[in-house]
Amino acid sequence: MEILEKINQLRKEKNAVILAHYYVRSEIQDIADFVGDSLALSQEAAKTDADIIVFSGVHFMAETAKILSPDKKVLLPDLEAGCSLADSAPADEFEKFVKEHPEHLVITYVNTTAEIKALSDITCTSSNAKQIVESLPKEQKIIFAPDKNLGNYINSVTGRNMLLWDGECHVHDQFSLEGILKLKEEHPEAKIIAHPESRKPILLIADHVGSTSSLLKFTQNDAGQEYIVVTESGILHEMKLKNPEKTFYIAPSDNPECMCSDCNFMKLNSLEKIYNCLLYETNEINLDKEISEKAKKPIVRMLEISEKLGL
Ligand code: 13P
Ligand code: SF4
Repeated sequence: MEILEKINQLRKEKNAVILAHYYVRSEIQDIADFVGDSLALSQEAAKTDADIIVFSGVHFMAETAKILSPDKKVLLPDLEAGCSLADSAPADEFEKFVKEHPEHLVITYVNTTAEIKALSDITCTSSNAKQIVESLPKEQKIIFAPDKNLGNYINSVTGRNMLLWDGECHVHDQFSLEGILKLKEEHPEAKIIAHPESRKPILLIADHVGSTSSLLKFTQNDAGQEYIVVTESGILHEMKLKNPEKTFYIAPSDNPECMCSDCNFMKLNSLEKIYNCLLYETNEINLDKEISEKAKKPIVRMLEISEKLGL
């Protein structure tokens, strides 16, 4: 039997759902029950009635699903699928930082561990960070963590002066400005569209800045035909499916490890690993009950604000 048939049989038998982020391999996106950005995936994880969630993404995403659905079995195809951005905020250092600024409200990106969420007041994703910040009074002091590039960008579009944690994602932080400018010279008609986890000089020259789903929507609604895409390469799969007549160039990277725009953590997911974890029900995410309950509050607050704003 083909692996796809075996996965289909198992997910039916076990009432399992496969959720996938836009950054995972295209063959996984093709078979997933739901593909989306971080916000859409957490919304989906909160409302699914499946017994098992196979989260084809990275650890913090599966953890968020478990926090929202503690009675479900949440499986991560490869437990090594971490996130450099989540790793850039160790819980002990962050707790100290929060304690040093008691009058600040703490907004954290969902790309964090459950321990960090437990220290937060509201979480956000790149889809709703601006609206979450704007939902708070102008005079409210805010700590924003862990992504300094996203934090700087939100400060610039909202006129706030949030206190930023010094963290970043190794994929987005290493896009090459020089390489992007060279691509633009070769394809002058191409619009530059960038994820806000990228560095400021890149965001300043971008025609559109937004989350993965926002970049996708832009390519569908825009009259242009060519795009230089500054985010993880996996998004190109859905962009090409939605816009078969358009041309996409993935932005070059200065990442010395691979000189590519892949997230090595996202790319750890494979069909074989999905099949194995579903078959043996291994790689389960389990969380400390107290941390999980504390971490749930800021996520629920984010989901409520997002729902109210129709995001
Ligand atoms: P979004 O899905 O919010 O666009 O975030 C991208 C990301 O880096 C997830 O790892
Ligand atoms: Fe984390 Fe960056 Fe990979 Fe997203 S792309 S999972 S932020 S390391």
